[in-house]
Amino acid sequence: MNKIVVVGSINTDLVFTSNKRPNSGETIFGNDFKTIPGGKGANQAVAASKLNAQVIMIGCVGNDLNGDFSIENFKKVNVNTSCIKRVDSHTGVANIVVAENDNSIIVVPGANYKITKSMIDEYKAVILSADIVLLQLEIPLEVVEYTLNLCDENNIKTVLNPAPAIKLSNETIAKSTFLTPNEHECKTILGLDKDVDIVEIIKQFPNKLLITLGEKGVMYFDGENVVTIPAYKVKAIDTTGAGDTFNGAFARAIVNNFSIKDAINFANKASSISVTKFGAQGGMPILDQID
Ligand code: ATP
Ligand code: RIB
Repeated sequence: MNKIVVVGSINTDLVFTSNKRPNSGETIFGNDFKTIPGGKGANQAVAASKLNAQVIMIGCVGNDLNGDFSIENFKKVNVNTSCIKRVDSHTGVANIVVAENDNSIIVVPGANYKITKSMIDEYKAVILSADIVLLQLEIPLEVVEYTLNLCDENNIKTVLNPAPAIKLSNETIAKSTFLTPNEHECKTILGLDKDVDIVEIIKQFPNKLLITLGEKGVMYFDGENVVTIPAYKVKAIDTTGAGDTFNGAFARAIVNNFSIKDAINFANKASSISVTKFGAQGGMPILDQID
């Protein structure tokens, strides 16, 4: 089995469902509340593991009940937890409002910001044993950059899902094997104006920049043409974590030697299935569902 290492965030999602979003200064009643596992790193690890990849999670949680909850959740889906540290902070939390067919999220990173470069040194052998390493931006940027550098020096493939987006250096972009922003994140990481035509930009990053377009699928430049691999038509219930399912599934397909095009199609299938159920991890498919 091929090995995927995820270096990233682990959160507990506090999900409020309501008919509308409150305005500033307004209090409204919601319809439902759930506490569920989340965090971009954790979600991507779970997505890949449910698709039969061997996954090791590197990250931090607090010495609190949410930390126990996250670790138990990983164990249920066979994600290796031996490189998760318990630290002196609360486990990361995300306040998610699902309303009006979309979500809005406030993340308080807590323990996720206790991951350090020395922790990457400590788990260097684990990282170097990976076939691919998955990263996001819910942990300190210097740790992401340090890990990318280590992987680049050792010819290990990486997927950087640059969310939540900030402007990235040319070096960080160059050292990532694959970058998987949505359209808005793409403009932010490259420091572009909102009205720039993304089709022209994508041509500068052949077989690297994969822009996710929600229900429209994924666009990338294959070196000859700008190609859009369409998503699958489904009745979306909750799109929280669609990008995470896409990344976990894409990494799983790449380590199984799929072409980039086939890996995107596989990941589109997985993520379109995931949006048909509630919660970031609630709808993530197992392999049989994709077949
Ligand atoms: P999020 O931040 O909500 O996790 P994202 O903005 O990072 O998502 P999207 O581009 O919205 O990522 O979605 C990622 C992938 O999920 C899409 O490329 C597509 O394959 C699938 N997807 C998302 N929304 C839908 C939908 N409504 N119907 C079918 N597939 C979808
Ligand atoms: O991508 C979805 C995730 O973003 C949620 O699970 C939440 O924890 C936030 O990190």
